[in-house]
Amino acid sequence: MLGRGALSFPTCLVLSSAILFLSQLMACSFNPCVEVIPNITYRCMDLNLSGVPAEIPPSTENLDLSFNPLVSLTSNYFSEVPELRLLDLTRCHIQTIEDYAFKDLHKLLTLILTANPLQHLGPTAFYGLASLQRLIAVEDDISSLADLPIGHLHTLQELNVANNQVDSLKLPGYFSHLSLLRFLSLKSNRISSISTGDLAALQGEKKHNLTLVLSLNDIKCIQPGSFEGILLHELSLRACFENTGLMKACIQGLAGLQVNRLVLGEFRNIGRVEDFSNGLLDGLCQVQLQEFVFISFQRFDNCTDTLFDCLVNASTIRLVDLSLDQVSAVPTASRIHHLEFNTCKFIEVPAKKLSSFKELRVLRITNSKYLTGFREKFKDLPNLEVLDLSVNRLSFIQCCDSYLKRIPKLKHLNLSFNSIISVTGGLNITELVSLDFRHSKLNDFGSFPVFHCLGKLIYLDISYTSSHIASQCTFSGLKSLQVLKMAGNSFQDNNLGNSLMNLTQLLTLDVSSCKLTQVSPSTFKSLTKLQELNISHNKLLAFDPLAYKPLQALTVLDFSSNQLTVLTEKAMESLPSCLVHLDLSYNLFDCSCNHLSFLKWAKEHGELLKSTQLMVCNNPVHMQNMSVLSFDLSSCHLSPVEWVMSVSVPFAGILFVILIYKYYFLLYYGLVLHSGCRRYTDRNDTYDAFVIHSSKDIEWVRKELAEKLEGGMPPFQLCLHYRDFIPGVPITTNIIQEGFLSSRRVIAVISNHFMESKWCSFELEIAQSWQFVDGKASLIMIVLEEVDKVLLRRKLGLSRYLRRNTYLEWRDQEISRHLFWRQLRTALLDDKT
Ligand SMILES: *[C@@H]1O[C@H](CO)[C@@H](O)[C@H](O)[C@H]1NC(C)=O
Ligand SMILES: *[C@@H]1O[C@H](CO)[C@@H](O)[C@H](O)[C@H]1NC(C)=O
Ligand SMILES: *[C@@H]1O[C@H](CO)[C@@H](O)[C@H](O)[C@H]1NC(C)=O
Ligand SMILES: *[C@@H]1O[C@H](CO)[C@@H](O)[C@H](O)[C@H]1NC(C)=O
Ligand SMILES: *[C@@H]1O[C@H](CO)[C@@H](O)[C@H](O)[C@H]1NC(C)=O
Ligand SMILES: *[C@@H]1O[C@H](CO)[C@@H](O)[C@H](O)[C@H]1NC(C)=O
Ligand SMILES: *[C@@H]1O[C@H](CO)[C@@H](O)[C@H](O)[C@H]1NC(C)=O
Ligand SMILES: *[C@@H]1O[C@H](CO)[C@@H](O)[C@H](O)[C@H]1NC(C)=O
Ligand SMILES: *[C@@H]1O[C@H](CO)[C@@H](O)[C@H](O)[C@H]1NC(C)=O
Ligand SMILES: *[C@@H]1O[C@H](CO)[C@@H](O)[C@H](O)[C@H]1NC(C)=O
Repeated sequence: MLGRGALSFPTCLVLSSAILFLSQLMACSFNPCVEVIPNITYRCMDLNLSGVPAEIPPSTENLDLSFNPLVSLTSNYFSEVPELRLLDLTRCHIQTIEDYAFKDLHKLLTLILTANPLQHLGPTAFYGLASLQRLIAVEDDISSLADLPIGHLHTLQELNVANNQVDSLKLPGYFSHLSLLRFLSLKSNRISSISTGDLAALQGEKKHNLTLVLSLNDIKCIQPGSFEGILLHELSLRACFENTGLMKACIQGLAGLQVNRLVLGEFRNIGRVEDFSNGLLDGLCQVQLQEFVFISFQRFDNCTDTLFDCLVNASTIRLVDLSLDQVSAVPTASRIHHLEFNTCKFIEVPAKKLSSFKELRVLRITNSKYLTGFREKFKDLPNLEVLDLSVNRLSFIQCCDSYLKRIPKLKHLNLSFNSIISVTGGLNITELVSLDFRHSKLNDFGSFPVFHCLGKLIYLDISYTSSHIASQCTFSGLKSLQVLKMAGNSFQDNNLGNSLMNLTQLLTLDVSSCKLTQVSPSTFKSLTKLQELNISHNKLLAFDPLAYKPLQALTVLDFSSNQLTVLTEKAMESLPSCLVHLDLSYNLFDCSCNHLSFLKWAKEHGELLKSTQLMVCNNPVHMQNMSVLSFDLSSCHLSPVEWVMSVSVPFAGILFVILIYKYYFLLYYGLVLHSGCRRYTDRNDTYDAFVIHSSKDIEWVRKELAEKLEGGMPPFQLCLHYRDFIPGVPITTNIIQEGFLSSRRVIAVISNHFMESKWCSFELEIAQSWQFVDGKASLIMIVLEEVDKVLLRRKLGLSRYLRRNTYLEWRDQEISRHLFWRQLRTALLDDKT
């Protein structure tokens, strides 16, 4: 048994790994879906699939099966993926959706069925879609809303059945149950007439907030009363009518409608009604509307006298892409407070005419490529707060007080993207809060203050206005300014200088692309509240910590596209603590080991740094275009030899100091010995003997030795350190210079005290060494009492036996003393001149 099992084991292993390999191979070839987010989002577009691929995990929430030939959706078709939120079945050749096809998709929010030739829908085809919010059934060959079995989808918010064959707006009764429905598009169907009762399902207690899009149907007739009592959020009827007459009649048919926004007009490339004619919009007098949008009308040959007649009660009017070159007549009393002309054909700002809209709060005339003149002045628009004249071709000689003087509440003025604006006279629009000049050329700006009356201005944009800021006072007076955008201009000496002084409220500053080469240390001094600074696309070589220090509130700093080679340690330290966004991309970083601390810092601050993949090295050459963050810090570590050197040199130094400290005496005396040698010839002996002794034997030395020798005949001169050493000179120097060098002999008074004393041992050792250097034996050893002979021998060593040394023992007997003194005198007399 055991034998057989052991034999089959390797075979089994080979087999199972082969199976594993094969199954992986198969999995690969059968699961080509793109995994956008693992376990969540899969894209299986155009893969010739005929069902949900088995490999799609059950946790999938977003599944794109578009462009696969599914043809028919059978019951429980999606049971493998019950977590779906979004299912895209665009162009899947689906002809049949059987009952309960989506039964398991309780969580599905969006179902896209665009472009399928639907022929058969089971009555319970959409059962189970308990959460469905959006159903997109565009281009599905649907011929009647009644055919769509969706009455039970109570959660539905958006139904898009554009581009189908629906020929009637008759909404089936089930619409009254779709109480959450917000958007219904029947764009580009075949609705030719709208009759009373068609929208009955929208009536009732539940107030619908529905956007109904009927554009691009060929409507011949709207029966009056069809919209009676209907409440809509928006009704869109673009390109629905063949001609002006039909359009006028159909608008009459809207009588009784209440709508928040009504959109009429054409499409740019699909225009059917040629002319705007008087009375076209008369029917709107019977419609209650808030906002009217009139789009893409190409001919206004006949005057527009009646354009606003029935719109006086609307609050917002947007006229977009109209060939309107003038405003002929305006109603004397209107409630319009928001008027917008976008892409119209004005040549002049029709200021006089527009001044009749007394209730205006917002006026926009934008995107008019013929609008060059502003000659008329606005008069008395007491409520106007926003004037937007951006993206035209306006030129001003003297902007702008005289034109705007009669608009006392003007807060927002937008003159961006125009031609040439001259502000030499200064601006005196005292209530102004925001002012936008960007991409218009500002003439003669930057040499003197023009904003000094704009004390309430919060937002100023003068980006790309070809301004050259030469005066430090350019911005003076802007004491409330919070946002200053001035990218793409230039400064005197390419230096910000002190022009930003006094802008103490500034929160956002954009000085990108200003050719700056330097920032003075005082530039940002007063910008203590600044949160966002964009100083990118300049030519700054350094980040001067001193200059940026006042910016303690900064959270965003864009320093990209400059010529920074490194952030110094000081600079890194001075970065504000609340900084969360620091962009240093596109600089000229030097990635050499000299800047290791910066490279290390960059690696550690990946969260703070933005666009790090674009933070590349410029130097050294072999690292060019490499990401700074990918720099290998270990490449800067020292080689073993360097490492050993760097460790051992200080170590050796320390050791040296320790040794010097410990052997100071020896070294010193070696040194002096050396110098003593050299001075040997001019040596002048002043003493006959230098006495070394323990301080405890001082009595004996004084009473016996000194008295006997100095008082005897002949007298000997002794060097006694308690008496003869020169005060204030280091003791070793004294020993060597006064003692040894100035004495012919050395007398060592050896006792137990002597041998216990380190000092005495040291002196003795010097004396012994001196003998060898000096070349003559000159040591006289007097052993005072019963000393340890073993120790004595070791201490005295060879000296004791040298021929010319004298070894004497002091005894307290008269006879031996006599002998002692005689021997001592004899030893001292030797050589004495
Ligand atoms: C995906 O789901 C499987 C099984 O539920 C699980 O083992 C795996 O870790 C998941 N993968 C991810 C990236 O969440
Ligand atoms: C798609 O798959 C079917 C079988 O499911 C096959 O007959 C057909 O050739 C495939 N088409 C393409 C373009 O691969
Ligand atoms: C009506 O719907 C629009 C969007 O379709 C939405 O912006 C608006 O707030 C809604 N109004 C109400 C009162 O629900
Ligand atoms: C202008 O409108 C009048 C009627 O209001 C009409 O008779 C005339 O033909 C129109 N002119 C043009 C050029 O459409
Ligand atoms: C505007 O509203 C007023 C009263 O609110 C009404 O008398 C007037 O007829 C309305 N005008 C139009 C054109 O709807
Ligand atoms: C001024 O107009 C331009 C172009 O229409 C627009 O992008 C910009 O946001 C406007 N400025 C302000 C401050 O609203
Ligand atoms: C600015 O305008 C106000 C009134 O519009 C006027 O009183 C004031 O003198 C003007 N200031 C300057 C400096 O022109
Ligand atoms: C800043 O304000 C002070 C005092 O208000 C003023 O004296 C100085 O001229 C101002 N500087 C600039 C550049 O506006
Ligand atoms: C800074 O300005 C540059 C160009 O002017 C722009 O591309 C960039 O997005 C700005 N940075 C930030 C953080 O807004
Ligand atoms: C680095 O990139 C720049 C621009 O992309 C290129 O001109 C240059 O040759 C590159 N240098 C190296 C060493 O790859």
